[in-house]
Amino acid sequence: MKVSIIGAGNVGGTLAQRIVEADLSDVVLVDIAQGFAQGKAYDLADSRSLTAHERRISGSTEYWETAGSDIVVITAGLARQPGMTREELLKKNTETIRQVVKEVIRYSPQAIILMVTNPLDILTYVALKSSGFPKHRIIGMGGVLDSARFVTLLAEELNVSYSCVQALVIGAHGDTMIPLTRYSTVSGINITELLSGEKLAGISQRTVKRGAEIVSLLGKGSAYYAPSAAAFKMVKAILKDERRIVSASVLCEGEYGLDDVCIGVPVRLGKNGVEEIISLQLSKEEKEQLSASAVSIKSTLSSLILAH
Ligand code: NAI
Ligand code: 2OP
Repeated sequence: MKVSIIGAGNVGGTLAQRIVEADLSDVVLVDIAQGFAQGKAYDLADSRSLTAHERRISGSTEYWETAGSDIVVITAGLARQPGMTREELLKKNTETIRQVVKEVIRYSPQAIILMVTNPLDILTYVALKSSGFPKHRIIGMGGVLDSARFVTLLAEELNVSYSCVQALVIGAHGDTMIPLTRYSTVSGINITELLSGEKLAGISQRTVKRGAEIVSLLGKGSAYYAPSAAAFKMVKAILKDERRIVSASVLCEGEYGLDDVCIGVPVRLGKNGVEEIISLQLSKEEKEQLSASAVSIKSTLSSLILAH
């Protein structure tokens, strides 16, 4: 098994560490910055005798090293620079993803691509279109992270173990995400039976803003421990054919009344990537929220196409 990670920064480097330390697969790191991926790979390799695994880790600026990967995780991209607008950042990261995808598919035409770079749903769609890959092999990581954040806040409020909370967040990985209280439980008990509507609204709101909350505390950069753990969970589900149901950004073509948009919905992940999109019986309000989330993704995408 071989996993390549494009972008050896905070998320990419930590994901590499998680994969090799779990003895899941060999890892190739690629980064545009000269020496950076190689330095991280050497550092990770030097920790093998201490963390007790035999996995190979290499780092490069060259894509030929990724040849024959089973999964390629894309975390490459710029963070917003001083003076740069959100639109400029989006344009820049779109160009980056198009270039990266071109190289990835050249060397690993059978790979499953896991997109991490933001804006997540938009760049998952860009990767899908520029790769020409079938839709089950292009997956965006957002919902697993958002659901994990929802779990944290619910478990803390209820003073219960994190392991007995299961929560589901769908929609865009952004301000229009939808924490689904009706589908979130504590050991099988629906959270709506345990917390008031007011409490749940507050926790849902904090879940939506959790990424921004962390960014403002960190001072520079964004979250990467939970994001890399979320990507790890998805990589593992695919490599081990776990048939795990998670929220992920995938192309919807008719599901939930949505068309031609990549957005977070519950899917079954296995060795073929997305093996099924799970259809939930959403309430009228939940359906409207999901449609509004899709509209926000699509309107950003059309502004991008107009600017291109
Ligand atoms: P980072 O800045 O630490 O790492 C990004 C790396 O990408 C840098 O090392 C940079 O040199 C590299 N890079 C830039 N252009 C490249 C190119 N053309 N080819 C190869 N490498 C290139 O950033 P971090 O914290 O690792 O985040 C990475 C991305 O993931 C960001 O877009 C961030 O917003 C996103 N993210 C998404 C999450 C999600 O839930 N989907 C969660 C956390 C981060
Ligand atoms: C997060 O939610 C930045 O998407 C990233 O932390």
